[in-house]
Amino acid sequence: MIKDIETAQEFTTTTVALVTTHHLGKNNVMSAEWTIRSSIDPFLITVFVGYERATYDMIKGSGEFGVSYCSDKQGELAHVAGNHSGRDVDKFALKDFSTFKAAQIKAPLIESSISAFECKVVSEYPVGDHAAFNGQVVEGYYSQDAKPLVFHGGKFRHIGEIIKH
Ligand SMILES: Cc1cc2nc3c(=O)[nH]c(=O)nc-3n(C[C@H](O)[C@H](O)[C@H](O)COP(=O)(O)O)c2cc1C
Repeated sequence: MIKDIETAQEFTTTTVALVTTHHLGKNNVMSAEWTIRSSIDPFLITVFVGYERATYDMIKGSGEFGVSYCSDKQGELAHVAGNHSGRDVDKFALKDFSTFKAAQIKAPLIESSISAFECKVVSEYPVGDHAAFNGQVVEGYYSQDAKPLVFHGGKFRHIGEIIKH
């Protein structure tokens, strides 16, 4: 093992979600690798959002958010959503984020993702320099054939083979 706290940070393997929001007549989308199912019953998803993100204000203001877990064909979308702020630009005009209408929240969801969820905020906790928004999942969707986008070592990757055991 190599002792290096800085580089070791990049050796946590995650998926990437596109977190969508709608507030004051505007839609936004941001990439969030720190998006995880956090309770079975109730079904909760927690997203960790930096306080300076446009997404923070939009979730805080609307009390809801969408989560669309990226497929391995959506690396470019994750790159765009994660490297521009909705404060400066309309990311939906930058790239073709094909969306579909959610049933119970105002934010759109992203087509052809692995799975997509509609979430209503039930609580918010400070976690270091991020806020943890716990969202009650009120609707969910999945794609049978899509494969997840994996994020490791600062790069987007395909998922590997199934390990038989
Ligand atoms: C792959 C990837 C994963 C990211 N994960 C997170 C995350 O989990 N939480 C977070 O606050 N920012 C995360 N970011 C950074 C935000 O997506 C980025 O700051 C974005 O520009 C914020 O957009 P907004 O200001 O429109 O909300 C990530 C960026 C990338 C490229």
